[in-house]
Amino acid sequence: MSESSDLVMPDAADSERAAEAALRPRHLEDFVGQPVVREQLSLVLEAAISRGNVPDHVLLSGPPGLGKTTLSMIIANEVGGSLRLTSGPAIQKPGDLAAVLSSLQEGDILFIDEIHRLARTAEEMLYLAMEDFRVDVMVGKGPGATSIPLPLPPFTVVGATTRAGLLPAPLRDRFGFTGHLEYYDDDELATIVVRNAVKLGADLTQDAANEIASRSRGTPRIANRLLRRVQDWAQVKGNGKLDLSAARAALDVFEVDQRGLDRLDRAVLEAVCVRFGGGPVGLTTLAVSVGEEPETVESVAEPYLVREGFLVRTPRGRAATALTWQHLGMAPPEQSDTLFT
Ligand SMILES: Nc1ncnc2c1ncn2[C@@H]1O[C@H](COP(=O)(O)OP(=O)(O)O)[C@@H](O)[C@H]1O
Ligand SMILES: [Mg+2]
Repeated sequence: MSESSDLVMPDAADSERAAEAALRPRHLEDFVGQPVVREQLSLVLEAAISRGNVPDHVLLSGPPGLGKTTLSMIIANEVGGSLRLTSGPAIQKPGDLAAVLSSLQEGDILFIDEIHRLARTAEEMLYLAMEDFRVDVMVGKGPGATSIPLPLPPFTVVGATTRAGLLPAPLRDRFGFTGHLEYYDDDELATIVVRNAVKLGADLTQDAANEIASRSRGTPRIANRLLRRVQDWAQVKGNGKLDLSAARAALDVFEVDQRGLDRLDRAVLEAVCVRFGGGPVGLTTLAVSVGEEPETVESVAEPYLVREGFLVRTPRGRAATALTWQHLGMAPPEQSDTLFT
């Protein structure tokens, strides 16, 4: 995948995790935006603290890069519990989960990332652990096997998922609180960028922060990444100051346009409009014509293009909209005007 696509990918690259860790807010009051989730969560946590209980299990859902992992760390921090991290894909069989559960201490926060990918066979064990703070350990094999209940200390599961709809209802029901994270607006992203510039020791102007925010696809992870690239540009090509012209020049170099579209996004839109007359065109044909895997086009470029109204999915394939033609600075052909009316 091209470098510019990586820049607007909502998922974190491995090399990025250290940089991200440094920018994570540590307290709920420093967590920008998401006013609904923040208020609800703060009530849940405060009530638990004042009762001297561990908080109810918390499920966080929403697209990548919006702050689920960050919130789990904040929860642990706010209640003074230690954070234990695991993920759905890491738990392939019940034994893996039993090992994690049996090492928990009272008040621990067990963060299970991508919880919708948990093995089905481990789910039942998790239900029991969440509800009764108990895990049944199987001893022996075959007809002689017996299960021995092992009590667990009170703890809190924080589950994160990008696909809440994939979670089986019984698992969803075990969470006392579900917070759904929404995309951020430009003001919130600009606030995040301004704060993080301070942490990075970067000299950032407000208009540069606004510029970065408006190209970040509603996603703090992308805003932080663009901020670092603007900082790179200012250091190497500019005078060290992260002002509007530095932000624009840097984002041009990295091929992120005014709407946060990158090279791949534009290649997709151009192919639909120029080669296929606005579509509809099948995913595979489209992917071949931009030299990418269908999977990449579908999971990397398409979700944002659809959300922003640059692309529509029809039963016969992907098609451009009036906005697409406008964004590319092209006039739609006569018949594509009538296609959707
Ligand atoms: N509300 C927020 N305020 C400040 N920074 C945020 C916020 N949400 C996310 N971030 C930053 O964005 C990056 C990605 O967040 P993360 O929690 O890893 O997202 P997710 O787990 O949902 O993919 C982190 O560096 C984090 O600090
Ligand atoms: Mg995460």
